[in-house]
Amino acid sequence: MRVTIFGTGYVGLVTGACLADVGHDVVCVDVDEVKVEGLNRGVVPIFEPGLEPMVKANHAAGRLRFTTDAATAIAHGEVIFIAVGTPPDEDGSADLRYVLEVARTIGQHIERPAVVVDKSTVPVGTADKVREAIATELLVRQVEVPFSVASNPEFLKEGDAVADCMRPDRIVIGASEPGAVEKLKRLYAPFNRNHERIVVMDVRSAELTKYAANAMLATKISFMNEIANIAERVGADVEMVRQGIGSDPRIGWHFIYPGAGYGGSCFPKDVQALARTAQQHGIDPRLLNAVESVNEHQKKHLFELIERHYGGKLKGRTFAVWGLAFKPNTDDMREASSRRLLQQLWDAGAQVRAYDPEARHEAQRIFGERDDLVLCESANAALIDADALVVVTEWKPFRSPDFSRIKRALRDAAIFDGRNLYLPEEVEAAGIAYYGIGRGR
Ligand code: UGA
Repeated sequence: MRVTIFGTGYVGLVTGACLADVGHDVVCVDVDEVKVEGLNRGVVPIFEPGLEPMVKANHAAGRLRFTTDAATAIAHGEVIFIAVGTPPDEDGSADLRYVLEVARTIGQHIERPAVVVDKSTVPVGTADKVREAIATELLVRQVEVPFSVASNPEFLKEGDAVADCMRPDRIVIGASEPGAVEKLKRLYAPFNRNHERIVVMDVRSAELTKYAANAMLATKISFMNEIANIAERVGADVEMVRQGIGSDPRIGWHFIYPGAGYGGSCFPKDVQALARTAQQHGIDPRLLNAVESVNEHQKKHLFELIERHYGGKLKGRTFAVWGLAFKPNTDDMREASSRRLLQQLWDAGAQVRAYDPEARHEAQRIFGERDDLVLCESANAALIDADALVVVTEWKPFRSPDFSRIKRALRDAAIFDGRNLYLPEEVEAAGIAYYGIGRGR
């Protein structure tokens, strides 16, 4: 099928590559000329395992092309995806500026029938706005082109994006016209093998499904972080509690890891946006507000542990920080807990030596040159002349370090483990003070 995708960010690029990989003919549009030019040379601007070879192979095979020419791209697609960004507005609600701009562009150029699909995470009711924007432009042009607007939210996780896209656990199709449903079912048929993964529903339910999924996952995390804080005070170990509850299939093992708080481009933004939607409809979103405020508090918790250990005297100290990305296997630092921690350490007059396997350049871009930050080439280099080690992201290479080496390198021999990667006894046996999240120490 002929597919057009607006936006070559995470969602658009991964979707485009995966659809091309199963044989569809995909054209991706972006306003960023440098990015488009790079993509046509096989340069993938984000770090995402498996994405670059997939983009290169499908581009070479002629099934995946990149352009800034919206008119030609619109003429190409029988299915046209909108996968542009929806950054939070001042009040936390999703800013639909880019989505509606694309909708107007589609209305200005569309000549043949097409299904327009919202793939960006957009508030309930957006499909109606997109339909209206297209229809208005058609009216201005005084032409009639049949089109329908569907919602097909994306559930991929950064770091696992290609795998999630190729083997989705569900494909949500929100559409009312049977023609649109059939078309999207055909598009996704290659991903719908072995058992039925496609869930068809009305547009508004599909839009809400996306927010409900992310808000539920964020709720699990905030819940566990609250349990961790209780565990810390009552002298229990939340890691034991986690193991004690996860085996109940009604609770499950996923997303019950306490830590330094959730970050990324989705959870913080989506929880806020859903709360705003609730408020706009006269509902007080008590739970969603709590999920967000627990997370805000949790992002500061590591610093509180550090501050307590040093009796508030952090001026002149140096901290090795392992992990800057908001989670492993990505170079993304949007809403990352590391950013809050670094700022707090700097405000307290401390120095930071940080290492992240992928986010170094992103950190350089965000923080620029500053005297109180050294971005190191390796985990060991970060330890040099540091008082203590703070682990913020659970990258695999950080999981089993040589504790005796750490002990020798650090001035004060203390580890603040923001992701509960280590066994407290093992760290303490090496003569290092250990602080985890919700572990009574
Ligand atoms: C999230 C969802 O997991 C995807 O299903 C969704 O499609 C995506 O948002 C989106 O809306 O586009 P993502 O933001 O890539 O994916 O990352 P997650 O793996 O969900 O992690 C989010 C944050 O939660 C990270 O900071 C992670 O460290 C934290 N987390 C996760 C915890 O603190 N504890 C956990 O148990 C799990």
